[in-house]
Amino acid sequence: MYKIAVLRGDGIGPEIVDESLKVLDFIADKYQLDFDISFGHFGGEGIDKEGCPFPETTKRIIDQADAVLLGAVGGPKWNDAPKRPEAGLLELRQYIKSYCNVRPIIGFEPLLDMSPVKLDGPVDICFIRELTGGIYFGERGFNEDEAFDVEKYSKSEVQRISKKAFEYSKNRRGKVTSVDKSNVLSSSKLWRQTVKEISKAYDSELNHMYVDNAAMQLILNPYQFDVVLTNNIFGDILSDEASVLAGSIGVLPSASIGDGIGLFEPIHGSAPDIAGEDIANPIGMIMSLAMMLDYLGYKAIYNDIYEAINNTLKEGYGTIDLKLDRHITTSEWTNRLIKTLGI
Ligand code: IPM
Ligand code: MN
Repeated sequence: MYKIAVLRGDGIGPEIVDESLKVLDFIADKYQLDFDISFGHFGGEGIDKEGCPFPETTKRIIDQADAVLLGAVGGPKWNDAPKRPEAGLLELRQYIKSYCNVRPIIGFEPLLDMSPVKLDGPVDICFIRELTGGIYFGERGFNEDEAFDVEKYSKSEVQRISKKAFEYSKNRRGKVTSVDKSNVLSSSKLWRQTVKEISKAYDSELNHMYVDNAAMQLILNPYQFDVVLTNNIFGDILSDEASVLAGSIGVLPSASIGDGIGLFEPIHGSAPDIAGEDIANPIGMIMSLAMMLDYLGYKAIYNDIYEAINNTLKEGYGTIDLKLDRHITTSEWTNRLIKTLGI
């Protein structure tokens, strides 16, 4: 039996998490698996109910869990909170030491036309983003006249994330593109040097690209990329950019892993403007669930879910953010998906 900590979070978080749990229920039934689900308060919900975005009670639930499934956090309601919901997310990533953020840019054939970039076929890129270091966690200061944020990486931090990128590339097309700004930044010089050293232990091809050029190349020729290895901030920015290649950020999942348990969440935000209307796209969340199942050892179930999503889209069904013929609600879409999974 697997213990899953579920953090529904804010905005559309609760509704898409609930839909993904319907899928998990169905999967558990179909494959005779047992999941023990515990819910924890998190993000804005944590602030409202327990006074902080990542409360102790939630930490205790996570301590017991094999994986964390997260919806989304944040919203205008907490913009002036002393500690914003986003700070809880950063704390959580450090708490479970999930230094490796895996963001696959997964193309679904029926959504090809939705990308503003002219594509010849679905792209297949996997971002490996360093997640617990760099400028997100460096020393910072702020006063009326001056502010700063330090970008600092230790060699061992770069080594461990590089290893992950090369390991991932083995099961893909064997190519790693490491992104940096080593023509300007010292932290990037160490980054490039270290990635080069680590690459020697692997057969994969390595090339280096400056981040400004990488931003352009992603749009010019996305097919040249296989695994893209980045630091925390460059990966944050480039993975949002690359999401347009999949047609919609609403369909993309992520996994944050390290040496402990994994955290699985869609890459999109909490979309408070459409919360509670049953119109949010559940695909990024359901694919995150699929990545969780893959991580727990059920690769075949991941494939089943991907295929069923693709087939449901092929039939023309989608939420209103998708350019498809048949617009249905979040819950109707999930019900259709579950039907397709059962066939
Ligand atoms: C993401 C988000 C977070 C990040 C925010 C919410 C702190 O944008 O997961 O990409 O910047 O890492
Ligand atoms: Mn982001």
